[in-house]
Amino acid sequence: MMQNEIRITAENLNRARAFAKAFHTGEGTGHDWWHIKRVVEQAKLIAQHERNADQLLVQLIGLLHDVPDRKLHSSEDEGQAYLLTWLRSQFDEQQSRRLLQCINEISFKGAGVDDFVSCKEVAIVQDADRLDALGAIGIARAFAYGGKKNRALFDPDIYPEIHLSYEAYKISEGHTINHFYEKLLLLEERMHTETGRQIAHQRTIFMKSFLRQFYNEWGVEWEV
Ligand code: ADP
Ligand code: NI
Repeated sequence: MMQNEIRITAENLNRARAFAKAFHTGEGTGHDWWHIKRVVEQAKLIAQHERNADQLLVQLIGLLHDVPDRKLHSSEDEGQAYLLTWLRSQFDEQQSRRLLQCINEISFKGAGVDDFVSCKEVAIVQDADRLDALGAIGIARAFAYGGKKNRALFDPDIYPEIHLSYEAYKISEGHTINHFYEKLLLLEERMHTETGRQIAHQRTIFMKSFLRQFYNEWGVEWEV
C-alpha cells in the first residue's frame, strides 16, 4: 500500500471475518457470505502472482468490500457510516478513512466511468470481485439479482445503454440480458492483473456462448 502504511494483524482479519459473515449471511442478491469467501480466495490467489502485494491487506479489503454497498442498506450514506463505525473500532481515524476509501474504489460505477484504484491491493480485490460476476456463477448471480429486483429476464425491444455516469448506472432498470452488455462483457478489458485477465477471458467466452444459446432459444438475432 502506497499511502498511510497500515499494518493488518491476524486479529484484525478474524474480527473482519466475523463481522462480514454476520452481515452477509443469507443475503439474496448475490452478495451473500459465499460471494465474499470466493472473492477472498480468488484475491489471495491473484496476490500470489503479484509482486509486493500485502496479503493481509488484500484479505481485509476482500472481506469488507461489499459491507458498504448501497444495495444492502437503505441509502449510500448509511452504508458508509455502517462500515466506518466498524473500522473505527479497529483502527485509528486516518487508517479507517484510508481503508474506507480503498473499499469504495472497488465497485463498478458504469460502462463509461473509468476505474480508479489507488493501490495494488485494491486492484487485486477489484479483479477478484469482478471475476465472481463472470462465468457460470456470474450468470447465476445476474439473474438472481434481476429476480430480486423484479426485472424481466429479457426484452428484445429494449437495447443496452452505455452509462456515462455512476448516477445513470444506478438508476437504470433494464432487463437482465442488458446487464451483460452494460457491465459483464466489459470487465475482461478492465482487469488490472494478468492472472485476472486470463480467467476473465475464459469466463467471457462461456458467457458469450450462453448468450448465443439464449437468443437461439428465444428466436431473436442479437449481437454477441
Ligand atoms: P460490484 O461487484 O462491482 O460492486 P455489483 O455489486 O453491482 O458490482 O454487482 C454484484 C453482482 O450483482 C454481480 O454479479 C452483478 O452482475 C449483479 N448485478 C448488479 N447489477 C445488476 C443488474 N442491473 N442486473 C443484473 N445483475 C446485476
Ligand atoms: Ni462483491
